[in-house]
Amino acid sequence: MKGSKLTGYGYYVPEKVVSNFDLESKMDTTDEWIFSRTGIKQRYIARDDETVADMAALASKRALDMAGLNPNDIDCVIMATISDRKDFPASANYLYAKLGMTNNAPAFDVKAACTGFVYAMHIARAYFAAGIYKRILIVGSEKMSQMLDWTDRNTAVLFGDGAGAFVFEASEEGDGIIASEIFSDGSFTDLLYADSGLVKMDGREVYKHAVRNMSAVGLQVLESAGMRIEDIDWLLPHQANIRIMASAAEKMGFPMDKVIASVDRFANTSGASGALAFAYAAQQGLAKPGQRILYTAFGAGLTWGAAVIKI
Ligand code: UT7
Repeated sequence: MKGSKLTGYGYYVPEKVVSNFDLESKMDTTDEWIFSRTGIKQRYIARDDETVADMAALASKRALDMAGLNPNDIDCVIMATISDRKDFPASANYLYAKLGMTNNAPAFDVKAACTGFVYAMHIARAYFAAGIYKRILIVGSEKMSQMLDWTDRNTAVLFGDGAGAFVFEASEEGDGIIASEIFSDGSFTDLLYADSGLVKMDGREVYKHAVRNMSAVGLQVLESAGMRIEDIDWLLPHQANIRIMASAAEKMGFPMDKVIASVDRFANTSGASGALAFAYAAQQGLAKPGQRILYTAFGAGLTWGAAVIKI
């Protein structure tokens, strides 16, 4: 089967940092509560005039530079996002324009909440296998700050803004996306959704589903890749809550020192979270070429999925 290679990645976060201490003056919460329940210490918050597509473009440019490609070399743009204020057209269309693309490549969004990036990789893997596209740009970008009720301490403390981008290129011997699995269960839509543009969540229930589904799908995708935990260098779980990440890792038998975790720094950036955390970890010298990453995600829908990628 035809495959692909990950040839570039990049991330972008806005300038403004909001710490847990900053939130103490805005709502009835404490740094102690937020950090002990979630592992979050701070989050980045976009400027009012900074859009989902702006952040996506900055992350994409870094990924394209690393791959040594121009925007017009890309023949398909897939964007994972749920937080754009525009109902249509797709955020990916705005990204196309911001990148200065003129080649009429298809550009579309995948709306699978925090699992969106894994859904996008699953689609890309199928395109590569079918020989349809040669260079696919996948971007997760979220401005969650505009989806939050800043008086609701149950949700406002959990999320942040940012973007992460991957460039995959077709390769005969390539194994960039070795395996991927995606799932959903629409009977739990009421656990996590946005109403009139604001996030509503039953945190405790979401927590249980997150641990169960992320660990199960992680093991499932390993099986479809014909691999074992020992074959994986890094576990890259959706960055929502360090306790969820640690419980899922433990259930899978994965040591915590091989878990990529930057939720303390970026909080939950939904569809951007995995790619952002990965690109940041690589920049810190953690993840290195040739290594294998198990990326697991979970989110509203409910949706969940996992992919084994080689970097
Ligand atoms: O990407 C997927 C998106 N969502 C998630 O991943 C979230 C999944 N859920 C979670 O991460 C956790 O359930 C939370 C962090 C949301 C909550 O942690 P928890 O350990 O499940 O908290 P809890 O439900 O045991 O505690 C809730 C209590 C409530 O008080 P009472 O009713 O017990 O008196 C809340 O009012 O904590 C209170 N609370 C807060 N207190 C201070 C809720 N938010 C806050 C807050 N500061 N920010």
